[in-house]
Amino acid sequence: MSLQQIRLFGDPVLVTPASPVVDFDKELRKLVQDLTDTMIAAPGAGLAAPQIGVSLRVFVWDVDEQLGHLINPSLDLSEETQEGDEGCLSFPSLSYPTKRAMRVVAKGWNMHGEPVVVEGSELLARAIQHETDHLDGIVFIDRLDVETRKIAMKDIRESEWFAESISKGTSPTIKISPHNTFGKGF
Ligand code: NI
Repeated sequence: MSLQQIRLFGDPVLVTPASPVVDFDKELRKLVQDLTDTMIAAPGAGLAAPQIGVSLRVFVWDVDEQLGHLINPSLDLSEETQEGDEGCLSFPSLSYPTKRAMRVVAKGWNMHGEPVVVEGSELLARAIQHETDHLDGIVFIDRLDVETRKIAMKDIRESEWFAESISKGTSPTIKISPHNTFGKGF
């Protein structure tokens, strides 16, 4: 078990598109394990590799007591949408109503290099969309409506973790745990 530091908003890795996984090797399996352990410890419902500073297209989830992971995903989204509060482990203690597709069909690979298809709705669909966004360098506040985004930016600027990262001129680090995102932090 190896817990990794979760990178916070302000860290450039979170806005950098991640690279596809090429080698399905032992290191990849360790990455999946580290992501899973770190997500559970946070606690969170999902975690993407860029959030622990690894710019590869890998993420994990823990939704409805089911652990999962997906590598090099591509998504088909339903036209039907859902509204609900969403948070992110890279934005401690913050959550906002975020519109997402209601259902998703995600195609990708497991850590053994076998092709997999994951179908999900509601919270699992939300988690998969949120994590796939992380792989594209997109964070959930990019998905908020204009008014909510303004509120989010103000909350972020006023947050202790963000202020600390600015004052040090370095990447922010986690000091508080657990991160209260009401069970909806990804
Ligand atoms: Ni997130």
